[in-house]
Amino acid sequence: MCGIVGYVGTRQAPDICLAGLRRLEYRGYDSAGICVVTDGGDLDLRKVVGKLDVMQESLDEQPLVGSVGIGHTRWATHGKPSVENSHPHLSTNGRIAVVHNGIIENYQELRAQLESEGFVFKSQTDTEVMAHLVEKYYDGDLREAARKAVLDLQGAFAFGIICADSPDEMIAVRRFSPLVVGIGEGENYIASDMGAIRAETDKVYVIGDDELCLITRDGIEITDLELNAIDREVYVIPWPADAAAKGEHPKFMHKEIFEQPDAIRACLAGRLSSADKPITFENINLTEDEIKSFKRVVFTACGTAYHAGVVGRFLMERVAKIPSDADLAAELQQRDPVVLDDTLCVIVSQSGETADTLEGLRAMKAKGSKIVGVINVVDSSIARESDGVAYIQAGPEIGVASTKAYSLQILTIELLALYFAEIRGTVSPEEAREIKECLLRLPEDAQTLLEREDDVLAVAKKHYDKSSALYLARGVNLPSAMEGALKLKEISYIHAEAYSAGEMKHGPIALVGPDMFVLSIAPEGPTYDEMIGNIMEIKARSGPMVAVAYDGDEKIEQTGVDPDADPSDIAGRPNDMIYVPKTHEYVSPITIAIPLQLLAYHMADLRGEHIDQPRNLAKTVTVK
Ligand code: G6P
Repeated sequence: MCGIVGYVGTRQAPDICLAGLRRLEYRGYDSAGICVVTDGGDLDLRKVVGKLDVMQESLDEQPLVGSVGIGHTRWATHGKPSVENSHPHLSTNGRIAVVHNGIIENYQELRAQLESEGFVFKSQTDTEVMAHLVEKYYDGDLREAARKAVLDLQGAFAFGIICADSPDEMIAVRRFSPLVVGIGEGENYIASDMGAIRAETDKVYVIGDDELCLITRDGIEITDLELNAIDREVYVIPWPADAAAKGEHPKFMHKEIFEQPDAIRACLAGRLSSADKPITFENINLTEDEIKSFKRVVFTACGTAYHAGVVGRFLMERVAKIPSDADLAAELQQRDPVVLDDTLCVIVSQSGETADTLEGLRAMKAKGSKIVGVINVVDSSIARESDGVAYIQAGPEIGVASTKAYSLQILTIELLALYFAEIRGTVSPEEAREIKECLLRLPEDAQTLLEREDDVLAVAKKHYDKSSALYLARGVNLPSAMEGALKLKEISYIHAEAYSAGEMKHGPIALVGPDMFVLSIAPEGPTYDEMIGNIMEIKARSGPMVAVAYDGDEKIEQTGVDPDADPSDIAGRPNDMIYVPKTHEYVSPITIAIPLQLLAYHMADLRGEHIDQPRNLAKTVTVK
């Protein structure tokens, strides 16, 4: 999605903006632009279609010079990717420049009105109305002009605004789209994501909805839209400046997969220390009475986080015995759900900024549900609007394809379900101990799985040229199949679908053949025998098979293999195996996620794809 970086200081603004935008590259974009206030008191603007390298080349050839500037990477929503549609947008008189994330819903009415007043539009974007509106209201006070303009807007926005006639100021304002102001010495910053400016400063103000910031070299004033001063606490970014660097890994996704053993340790710390002790949770803000009284739990999320919610639905019902649902956030709003008393809504989000998820939260809150967020980014919009938060503690996740956040979302939800179960008395001490022992062993299990990367690579080499994949599972691992297929399709572009293996005979079996590999998740446990049956059915139809099984399962490699088949026939070949350490059924979605992440990674790598920046995808989807 779009990225914003702005700078007011004494250094060259284009350098700071470009470096910051590069740190947001992972979010996905199709064009970029930077605008500065020049020493001569004008605006100088550069916009390019394509990657930031194109911008760098353009700046090398003909630099922009100025110590106040705003930059933007655009992910097209209103209007195709083009120089005209990329940001910053200028006002009619060319004295005001604006960058924007979000969507202005009433832009068509505003545009018609402004055009009738003589303002001249150059792009198809919703954003451009803001530049003209600020010009319309400007009479020497940029903050006042921005304030009046914002009062005309409906929709979601984070803006950075500069003006040639107020050359030492930058204005930032937001509603619904994320925005932080970075605090320096004799210089200050704005950004849509703290990661963009972490290399410059670790101190930021996190800006709230309808808050307006006047930023100069020496000061930051935050007010509401009536200009009442807001005394905001400084937030100190907890991760080091190089946390968002790849280190020795070829790609961020690879690095983040390999961070999982330590990340799991950090997520367990303070919550589960021994199999004999109860689980503890801070900051979820639920009393024991509330936990005992819940009659329904609704998990709401998008993408990978939704898959973690589907695991959550299973665990909350099985362990805490509370009827549970998992809803895609975008669909939840369409259904206008009936929310009865004593409903808990668990909002799952890595970024804490996904537009549909945030709207789902607001809808559920308005209907009287209690809200607990399972979130990675501290102080994000969803974290702030939730009644309580269970942070997953993953540290920055840069790879567009979510990996460590997924396993930690499941882990956090599992700890929450067990915590509830212990309070509600719905889990026996023996079973609680057994699950906890497996959870405590997870860091070592994750390490073991990473040490087996070459085994997964060998499987990837056999199948990376296939055009299609079917991931099958049952029970608590159905979401493992959904997530495994999502990982594969989003970075390798192999068409991949997940199905409950029980549904296989109701459709997908029609597709089975040599061009499609089938991945069956078959750990020993309640779903094992049925999964074995499904594997045999697929082998009988010459479908190439990858099986995920527990260590020590000696029979599955030969399951369904026809000893009389011609050696060239797939039916005669042993199944390709991915083994995972044996663990509790409820913990297995976490271990199984790791080799499936590696499989997607290596298939995409073997196909030569841009793993960290897959086409058309964005890390954080801040528009609906
Ligand atoms: C995008 C990302 C996914 C993520 C989803 C939800 O699609 O590419 O990795 O799972 O958004 O994001 P959230 O930040 O709310 O977890």
